Amino acid sequence: MTTFYVTTPIYYVNDRPHVGHCYSTVVADAMARFHRLVRGLPESGGAHGDVFFLTGTDEHADKVVTAAASRGLSPQQWSDQNAAEFRAAFESLDCTFDDFIRTTEPRHRDKVPGYIRRLMESGDIYKGTYTGWYDEGQEEYVTEANAKEQEYKSRINGRPLVQRSEPCYFFRLTKYWAPLREYIEKHEAFVQPPARRAEVLGRLRHEEGRDVPISRPVTDDPATQWGIRIPEDEGNRIYVWIDALFNYLTAVDTPERRRFWPASVHLIGKDILWFHAVIWPCLLMALGEKLPATIFGHGWWVSEGRKMSKSDGNFIDLETLAGYAERHSLDALRWYLLTQGPLGGADADFSRAKFIEVYNADLANGLGNCASRVGNMIEKYFGGRVPPHLPLPAEEEHPPGGVNWPAACRVAVESALKHLAGFDVSAALVEAVDLIRKIDGYINETAPFRLAKAIDADPGARERLADILYNCAEALRIASLLFSPALTRKCPALWKTWNCTPPSGVPLADLARFAGPHGLRPGDALAKGEALFMRAEAPKP
Ligand code: MSP
Repeated sequence: MTTFYVTTPIYYVNDRPHVGHCYSTVVADAMARFHRLVRGLPESGGAHGDVFFLTGTDEHADKVVTAAASRGLSPQQWSDQNAAEFRAAFESLDCTFDDFIRTTEPRHRDKVPGYIRRLMESGDIYKGTYTGWYDEGQEEYVTEANAKEQEYKSRINGRPLVQRSEPCYFFRLTKYWAPLREYIEKHEAFVQPPARRAEVLGRLRHEEGRDVPISRPVTDDPATQWGIRIPEDEGNRIYVWIDALFNYLTAVDTPERRRFWPASVHLIGKDILWFHAVIWPCLLMALGEKLPATIFGHGWWVSEGRKMSKSDGNFIDLETLAGYAERHSLDALRWYLLTQGPLGGADADFSRAKFIEVYNADLANGLGNCASRVGNMIEKYFGGRVPPHLPLPAEEEHPPGGVNWPAACRVAVESALKHLAGFDVSAALVEAVDLIRKIDGYINETAPFRLAKAIDADPGARERLADILYNCAEALRIASLLFSPALTRKCPALWKTWNCTPPSGVPLADLARFAGPHGLRPGDALAKGEALFMRAEAPKP
């Protein structure tokens, strides 16, 4: 099986982590966990040799200098502090990243000039002059579109903008514009989901494209001194976006990790699509590197129906998220993010009412209740031992009760994997929920509690009851495997009480074989355990 390499954006350290950052990282985590599960879980939750999950922080931005200064710290001190916060935040969400890269680390800083040098040597980066509208008061360039909107005056002090020129290095994007367009046209999976692909292709078809400035001047102003220098030119530093994009490569550009390149998926938010789906692939083409398989641009979270904003009081920061995790469990939070998040074309609303609704439906009344029902009956009727099942039905057979469980479980796992291949983690998890609904329906249909009343007198009833409960428990075990990339704590807890923790190194296809070598074994102890999820009260209107 091939390697799987997933990345998140690297986050600016001027701001504190919030739901947007946490979302991308949790989605990448679920993908990484799914892929480890498919290949065979690593020993004690450690790294898997064929799966690599990268996240990290983007530190050379000018706004980091400003944020540091306002706290009386150097940009490096502030970056150190805040990068540690990001890392801790993701750890607290059970994100199992294999590496956390910081752009101020020597392993990154030392490699980036090498790529730039290669591009200078091939002529894909050249020195020219940048000319544009400049706001002298703000000391910043203003794009043509913004300048026009501001009537060529400063938006701060109203003084006229001036034309200004300075030496600058450019990347020859124009050379790769048509080749990239053709590449995207041929490779449907390259930019996803389809709305994002259409957006990128539309621009590539209708705009002409210009070479991209990739440097900023270094002056006496300390604020301009934060960043990686252009090779052999102390007077210019590499523009933060170019510096940042290279992180995906620097992290694996070592002899041990090279095999992970090209990345399987760069998971990003829709606002940074152009850099990832156009500029980055063109840089890679110029370097002669393979292109990542997919750039996946998810939508944005809004909050209680409105754009998140600190002043409106609907901002979902780390503390808000921690509050949900404390009240309803970390698994509940991950579940909500993963199944209700803006993975597709549309934005998603983070709302308290919806959180409770989804939590109760899928987890408390879904997985949790089903596990209690089945565990209780096994305890009551079979003394807490896995009951024996009847001979397994053949693939096309319709046994009494109407469900061919081996087939149903196989189909659920296969569908989940199909969704995973299309990066639809949410749809993959829904397969697990559907399996639970099927078990619930089967219990209602076959009414084991009624059958139980006859078992003393009727050995046929006892056999039938045993088979029903075995089917339920075994199907639930398989569902729990599919839940596990999201529910990082409750699934292991269930496995422990049910005595069915999946052994490491065994691929999902084997783990999920119904009544197979890793299935529940008749006669083994299966304790009912504590309720996995307590039902939550709907919030007061
Ligand atoms: N540093 C750059 C990325 C460089 S990658 C080579 C950056 N950082 S960021 O911290 O500003 O944003 C990181 C991510 O957070 C982006 O993908 C952005 O889409 C995402 N989000 C920010 N707010 C968001 C929401 N409200 N909802 C979902 N994601 C959002 O950009």
